[in-house]
Amino acid sequence: MTMTAATNTTTPLKNAVSKKPGPYTVETVLSVKHYTDSLFHFRITRPDAFRFRSGEFIMIGLLKDDGKPLLRAYSIASPFWDEALDFYSIKVDDGPLTSRLQNIQEGDEILLGRKPVGTLVLDALTPGKRLYMISTGTGIAPFAALIRDPDTYEKFEQVILTHTCRHAEELVYGEELVAATKDDELIGDLAREKLIHFTSVTREDGPVKGRVTTMIETGELAERLGIEKLNPETDRVMICGSEGLLKDVKAICEARGFVEGSNAAPADFVVEKAFVSV
Ligand code: A2P
Repeated sequence: MTMTAATNTTTPLKNAVSKKPGPYTVETVLSVKHYTDSLFHFRITRPDAFRFRSGEFIMIGLLKDDGKPLLRAYSIASPFWDEALDFYSIKVDDGPLTSRLQNIQEGDEILLGRKPVGTLVLDALTPGKRLYMISTGTGIAPFAALIRDPDTYEKFEQVILTHTCRHAEELVYGEELVAATKDDELIGDLAREKLIHFTSVTREDGPVKGRVTTMIETGELAERLGIEKLNPETDRVMICGSEGLLKDVKAICEARGFVEGSNAAPADFVVEKAFVSV
């Protein structure tokens, strides 16, 4: 397995890091896939001792030319049981990290933090019937982990992943992911039975056009999915996207009587800003 290769590789980066131990390990890039001019996915080795809960985030990065680490928060886009770690990132040409990260290739080395954290975890929600995962843009990343976690289906009868982007090409990662999840040996049966993927675009015509917030408020989302309107008695909600999305969905939830949860005090909904790691 590639993890062994990573352990045995000796490169200038590994040497530089091992001389100065930090709160990270050096991992190896296993694959990279570019989706659009501004979005890409990559997969890296996972140290044996690295444990996390599906939905959490971690610091990842590269060494700068001056030898100092440059790290940013990224949601882990693979489930806790996976042997490697997935990430889904934007590319920003003048971004200190992503201007370089977008050029990584298979075999390159990358820094991985040691301490995963986050609130988009099943532990932060009380039991319910239906789980909504509401995302925009790269905010789908933590849900890429959660829709592949058997516990998600153990805890909920129905799982609704919504993903809204400006353009249809930005939905492709999520579409491929859901298709692969439904095809997966381990999780496929559960996902086919319980997972609903709902997509919309806002800046071009698509099969469904509009913001998810508007569609929740007007009842269009429930109508399209053939389910009851959002209700704290039965539903739990996880939100990940832009600051505006978080604020607006949170307000919709609170107006309906949902209570915000956390690791320390699980409740009806949880929020986390999608990390715009520049
Ligand atoms: P819109 O095109 O109407 O702004 P961004 O790239 O700006 O993060 O946006 C990603 C997607 O999230 C876009 O489809 C955008 O719609 C949508 N969006 C942005 N802000 C909100 C919000 N406050 N509520 C709902 N959707 C939002």
